[in-house]
Amino acid sequence: MCRLSTKIKWLHTSLTIKPAHFKPPTGGFFCLKKEPLVESKCEIRIFLNLIRGFVLTFPHSKHKTVQRLFPWITSTRMKSGEINYELEKNMEVISQLDQLVGEAVDNILVDPEECWQPSDFLPDLSNPEAFEDIKLLQKRAEGIPDTVLTSLIGNMITEEALPSYQTYFNLLEGINEERSLISPSGWVRWSRTWTAEENRHGDLLNKYLYLTGRVDMGAVERTIHRLIANGFDANTDADPYQAMIYTSFQERATKISHVNTGKLADKAGDHVLSKICKTIAGDEARHEKAYKTFMSNIFDIDPSGAIKAFEKMMRKQIVMPAVLMGEGSPRTSLYKDFSEITQKVGIYTGWDYARIIEHLVDYWKIETLTGLDAVAAKAQDYLANLADRYMRLADRMKAPDEVKLAWLK
Ligand SMILES: [Fe+2]
Ligand SMILES: [Fe+2]
Repeated sequence: MCRLSTKIKWLHTSLTIKPAHFKPPTGGFFCLKKEPLVESKCEIRIFLNLIRGFVLTFPHSKHKTVQRLFPWITSTRMKSGEINYELEKNMEVISQLDQLVGEAVDNILVDPEECWQPSDFLPDLSNPEAFEDIKLLQKRAEGIPDTVLTSLIGNMITEEALPSYQTYFNLLEGINEERSLISPSGWVRWSRTWTAEENRHGDLLNKYLYLTGRVDMGAVERTIHRLIANGFDANTDADPYQAMIYTSFQERATKISHVNTGKLADKAGDHVLSKICKTIAGDEARHEKAYKTFMSNIFDIDPSGAIKAFEKMMRKQIVMPAVLMGEGSPRTSLYKDFSEITQKVGIYTGWDYARIIEHLVDYWKIETLTGLDAVAAKAQDYLANLADRYMRLADRMKAPDEVKLAWLK
């Protein structure tokens, strides 16, 4: 066995992944005489990391030159001048799931020819009766309370900040190693196809809300513009494990939000809007299922790493994607005002937050996971009681008596 193979074996051990977890070799790279030095894709990465490790042994004075020549050496994986083994290990596991994720693109996400499109729910303006249809739409929308409408607009704005979500996903370590948006890899295909589905949500809600005639579209457009310009930080440290926890949580939260809006629209007499919200919620449910499945696979391969990522995300708390909507605007409290309305009308509440934690803890069978290391066992204890703590917190939380509306005419 060559020295490199011994080193790779050592790295496998130090990353706490058993060699058996790696896919079988697919070919030979970096051949030296007859013996391949690096045989599979993940081993290429380990090989590169060995080079990184070697470079880091250079005297500090040479680091600037190294950084200029090989910027990838000093990526987020190596901020403090040391290899982040936890992240490297997470990336290895993520690369093993590539095929499964590719299958999810084909089996869970829907072909554009077969899935619904926004125009299915909107008046056809080429139809001579179109203005009658718009009048009917406006009549139905008249009964929707201002608070519910504001909350729906906030949800639509969140959906419209889609460019940030695709960017975020592709910046996760281990997801897009080729740095190519046309990559055929499972993860990159997922990022494109998932966001392509999401794109219909903002599109449909935006057009519907415009047609109601009740919305100050200029104000809405300025908020969307600002939100995309401000960017998005899910606080996941570019760690793909934490990102899978975040997206599992977030897709469920969005589903709940759309389902509840649909119920309120029904109550207000707008059955078309109700159907729109429920249809969008159906998409979110598929996405939620996919992300939870990706994370279940991570739990199977690396339970300690997965549970630690879950704990980290819960300690940091889930930041909603539209949190920066008011930054830099004349109304910096915009996001807070929007959140208070969703809480008050029951579209998304503190109880929902607690119930999502409860659901995820049950779904990934957190309380019965075995074979955990000491830190992961502590995370298990923390997570087992977390939903109850949030539930008690939600019980004590009082919805504000007065709320500030936004984006309405
Ligand atoms: Fe969505
Ligand atoms: Fe979604």
